[in-house]
Amino acid sequence: MYTIKVSRPQENRGAFGACWVAGKASGSCAILGAVTWIENVIAERGGEVSFCDFMEIALYHPEHGYYSASTPRWGRAGDFLTAPTASSWYVATLGHFLGKISDTVGRVEVVDIASGDGTFLATLLECCKKQVRSPVASVVSVERSETMREAQQERLAEYTGGLERCEIAPSIQDVTTSGCPCVLHASELYDAFPVHRVIMRDGKLSEFFVRLGKDGLEWAELECEPSLGDYLQRHEVLLAEGQVAEINLSAESFHRDLLQFCGGSAVAIVLDYGYEARRLYNSRGRFGGSLACYSRHQLSRDPLADPGGLDITAHVNWDDLHAAGKAEGWQPTGLWSLTEFLARAGIAEVAENEGLGIEAELDADTLIRRQELKRILDPEGMGVDLRVLVQGVGKVGSVVGEALSGGMFGAG
Ligand SMILES: C[S@@+](CC[C@H](N)C(=O)[O-])C[C@H]1O[C@@H](n2cnc3c(N)ncnc32)[C@H](O)[C@@H]1O
Repeated sequence: MYTIKVSRPQENRGAFGACWVAGKASGSCAILGAVTWIENVIAERGGEVSFCDFMEIALYHPEHGYYSASTPRWGRAGDFLTAPTASSWYVATLGHFLGKISDTVGRVEVVDIASGDGTFLATLLECCKKQVRSPVASVVSVERSETMREAQQERLAEYTGGLERCEIAPSIQDVTTSGCPCVLHASELYDAFPVHRVIMRDGKLSEFFVRLGKDGLEWAELECEPSLGDYLQRHEVLLAEGQVAEINLSAESFHRDLLQFCGGSAVAIVLDYGYEARRLYNSRGRFGGSLACYSRHQLSRDPLADPGGLDITAHVNWDDLHAAGKAEGWQPTGLWSLTEFLARAGIAEVAENEGLGIEAELDADTLIRRQELKRILDPEGMGVDLRVLVQGVGKVGSVVGEALSGGMFGAG
């Protein structure tokens, strides 16, 4: 009988150097008198933490963190939608695309990083079942949140028939690849990374900290770590007086590790919100930075308002991921809006195959499916704001590159 392999963490660590004790931070509690759980954690750390550490605690604290809840906080009923949870169109198109490339490269291993509750993998395996031969030979699901990994075990169990393996792990350090051609997928991983927050004051860079004040949490501006100034200099960014910016010091090295993990014949598909450094740090476009908080589909800008109850995100600097690809010898295939990527990957053909072409009967089901299609391609929303970076290496890299540029199946 087939079982899903669940890998344990090699050690109990946070992804960014935080070390959580035995799955629960010692001494934490939801409310202690007038002291909230996060004030307690910050008090244990001396009463003041960098914004990056604050974001790490608010999102990933094992008990109270936003991403540690036992049901996903995103999706239709949650705080925000992602491409895999908005509808099945994104995943169905990817499944269709994998079917086409697997004719040339063989069956693939899909590695989903930041896999959440497994929606992407479950939908992909469901869509691939409809094909004569599923293009997916095995899946690896990497998710930091323990509760989400538990949710996935049940969710993915029904799709394991026909798979060579299905492995769920907390990090890529806890798994190995099968050696099959690899498809790495990451949706809204990098915008969920804790970031440093800096401001230019009197010609000097200062870093935002969060500290315990008389009336609760408050901001403090302290001297900046040299690594933050070095980062901006490397990206040729000079902030304007008073300009705020977020800095993700981990994305580049994390992405390099992922690409190394994939082996010599692979493609990476990364969906996220972001810009290249030139636009991300442009003082006219983003004087206040890109930090955003979400709750019940409402945007706010105050991450201190409800720690653990709000999603906190910051835009990705695509140059970091390009640099990682270059350093690992991968080719940049494209950075497109979601709409353009889906068009290149064959969404029109998928819609046609699903009976939604011009000839379709206009019943309620057709109208609902067309509405979903519109939502994912929305030029004023996800379809344009969400971007897709495709990088490739070896045979899979060139086949995908050719296919997405229209050379192979006439797409695009
Ligand atoms: C916004 S959700 C996206 C979930 C899913 N990919 C989607 O698009 O619907 C971000 C997820 O990234 C996970 N995550 C954040 N950092 C991670 C890391 N270093 N490794 C694995 N998962 C991570 C979080 O636990 C959370 O489940």
